[in-house]
Amino acid sequence: MIPFSPEEFKDATRQAWNQSASGWNSQTPAVHDWLMAATADMLDAARITTGMRVLDMAAGTGDQTLDIARRIGSGGHVLATDLSEAMLRFARDNARQAGLSQVETRVSDAEDLDVEAASFDAAVCRLGLMFCPDPVQALRQMQHALKPGGHAAVLVFSEPQRNPCIGILMSTALRHAGLPPRDPFQPGGLLSLGKPGLLETCFGQAGFAKVTATRVYAPFQLPSARNYLDFVRASASPILQLLGQLDPQAQEAAWADMEEQLDVFQLPEGWEGPNELLLVHGMRPVG
Ligand SMILES: C[S@@+](CC[C@H](N)C(=O)[O-])C[C@H]1O[C@@H](n2cnc3c(N)ncnc32)[C@H](O)[C@@H]1O
Repeated sequence: MIPFSPEEFKDATRQAWNQSASGWNSQTPAVHDWLMAATADMLDAARITTGMRVLDMAAGTGDQTLDIARRIGSGGHVLATDLSEAMLRFARDNARQAGLSQVETRVSDAEDLDVEAASFDAAVCRLGLMFCPDPVQALRQMQHALKPGGHAAVLVFSEPQRNPCIGILMSTALRHAGLPPRDPFQPGGLLSLGKPGLLETCFGQAGFAKVTATRVYAPFQLPSARNYLDFVRASASPILQLLGQLDPQAQEAAWADMEEQLDVFQLPEGWEGPNELLLVHGMRPVG
């Protein structure tokens, strides 16, 4: 077996998200609706209010960055960081178009964060931490960036059985690629932080106090399974990397197989993919 190289993994992650930036940005309305309530819960957990300085780690094209900017108002400041320059370019443009000049962007690996120590009142990360091969290191960086008494809140996917669509996508892609099943909790994977209790332990190891965890049910509601697959195809999902090894006809056969399985979630009023997230919160100790 080839040993896992975190640096090679991150290079591949950066490249994949650079390539998918435009597609992910085009899916913003669907992602916004899907995660609107969970995002509000995350901002509440991080105690984000008017005038604060907020760190938004792995911010992508900035959907939640704009929510933060609106909540803190023009007297606050939000720094959106991400590994992918292309994703952040969209975040910057989206903020500019929304007239939110309190948004700043900075390319930075979450595990080696380029920010001033103890300079933020709050920090968040929405669906980004699970891509870090060393999530404890990323949380340490977050902790270091917070002022003493500052709060952090993170959203990740919970365990595989609560996120069956991800399991269907992954197992189907592996089977069509002729590969054996994978450990869903392997580092850097979509479900890598979904094991019950794991992320709370990571928060503790990173030095956070008063750690809390909540499950947030966040079904993805779309007109059809085809729309969900359009979303998957527009994101830098590991599914694309697996199917990328196949010829176009074999890729289409895999997508059709996934669609057939995902149709099981079709309801009379539309398609509803079950998804559960974990919202974990911690505070930088005072003194
Ligand atoms: C699923 S997107 C989420 C983006 C945004 N937070 C949202 O919820 O719309 C994951 C993001 O994590 C970023 N990412 C992955 N690994 C990272 C790392 N090591 N450091 C910083 N960002 C990373 C990717 O570039 C991508 O923008």
